[in-house]
Amino acid sequence: MYKIAFLPGDGIGIEVGNSAMKVAKVVAEHFNVELIINEKLIGGCSYDEFGSPLTDETLQACYDADAVFLGAVGGIKWESLPHNLKPEAALLKLRKALGLYANIRPAKIYQPLIDSSTLRKEVLQDVDFIVLRELTGGIYFGEPRAYDDDKGFNTMIYKKNEVERIAKIAFTLARERNRKVVSVDKANVLEVSQFWRNIVIQVHQEFQDIELTHMYVDNAAMQIVRNPKQFDVILTSNLFGDILSDIAGMITGSLGMLPSASLGSKYALYEPVHGSAPDIAGKNLANPLASISSIAMMFNYSFQMKKASELIEAAINKTLSQGYRTKDIFNEGDKLVSTTEMTEIVIKNFLEVFHEQ
Ligand code: NAD
Ligand code: IPM
Ligand code: MN
Repeated sequence: MYKIAFLPGDGIGIEVGNSAMKVAKVVAEHFNVELIINEKLIGGCSYDEFGSPLTDETLQACYDADAVFLGAVGGIKWESLPHNLKPEAALLKLRKALGLYANIRPAKIYQPLIDSSTLRKEVLQDVDFIVLRELTGGIYFGEPRAYDDDKGFNTMIYKKNEVERIAKIAFTLARERNRKVVSVDKANVLEVSQFWRNIVIQVHQEFQDIELTHMYVDNAAMQIVRNPKQFDVILTSNLFGDILSDIAGMITGSLGMLPSASLGSKYALYEPVHGSAPDIAGKNLANPLASISSIAMMFNYSFQMKKASELIEAAINKTLSQGYRTKDIFNEGDKLVSTTEMTEIVIKNFLEVFHEQ
């Protein structure tokens, strides 16, 4: 039996969250595990209901769960709230409270989508890397932070243990992959980045079988678009990882394809990399595949059900190879489907690949 804290959030978070839970239920049922899904508010909808974007009740549900799934938070309606009441603050607080310092954002190409990206096919063939983003430190959390009429400031700070633990994860992940880590920083300008680089080099002493190189973040942004095949594990800080992972999203053809897992020593949260997409929210247009793929990551990392995870990915692949596309990845000749239709087709394909094995 596994308990999932389900936080759909705002905008398309609700739509893709429902897709994710539908898939999770079917998968669990076929692998004979019981799922208990505990749904709670987070973000703008929680602010509207309780005056706070993250209540103790929601936080407690996450502490009580084996894994958390989050759709997305935010929207135009809440943009002018003070920072501590914004929907986004809830997500940051939750990451911090659960100690989710390691954010894995895989960028791999689904073969049937190779013509959907704005990048050329030759550039994309065989791309498979992960952005490992430090998630509970850096400029997102550094103090002091404030603004008034004359100035605004934040603090980019990393402590030794924060860099050490994320660097260890990077080298450990690389060991299961192609044994290459590129640490991305801005050490030519920022002291905090020079510190980051020094610590990463120290940690690397224990991982001599892994190739470590360093790259400045501006160059890395360019290299991801120029030749993404060169990367295996990109290790980087909170802000740089936020930006680089959206760039990496375009490798898969759409931000609507990119899943993520946020891990700590005790808790785990799974969410699509994209946001609440106010421009398409409530229209049954959103691509649910990033969320469904995040469920695959949940089965793998939190439930140690690798087979289930692989079959979910196989079902996604099959759906794409049959030509089904939501609007964001649609090209002429494809079959245009809604969020709910795409979800049903993935489920049907899951059942097929499940019974074929
Ligand atoms: P966004 O990711 O919500 O949307 C960017 C663009 O991508 C939009 O054109 C949107 O329609 C499209 N898109 C995103 N996901 C899609 C999907 N699944 N299917 C089809 N198209 C998709 O980013 P934004 O517009 O910069 O931010 C909107 C709101 O979401 C803001 O309030 C922001 O703070 C929030 N946000 C939340 C999260 C999160 O909860 N993890 C992440 C990013 C942004
Ligand atoms: C993400 C989002 C969040 C971030 C926001 C919504 C707080 O952009 O998960 O990538 O910046 O981390
Ligand atoms: Mn982001």
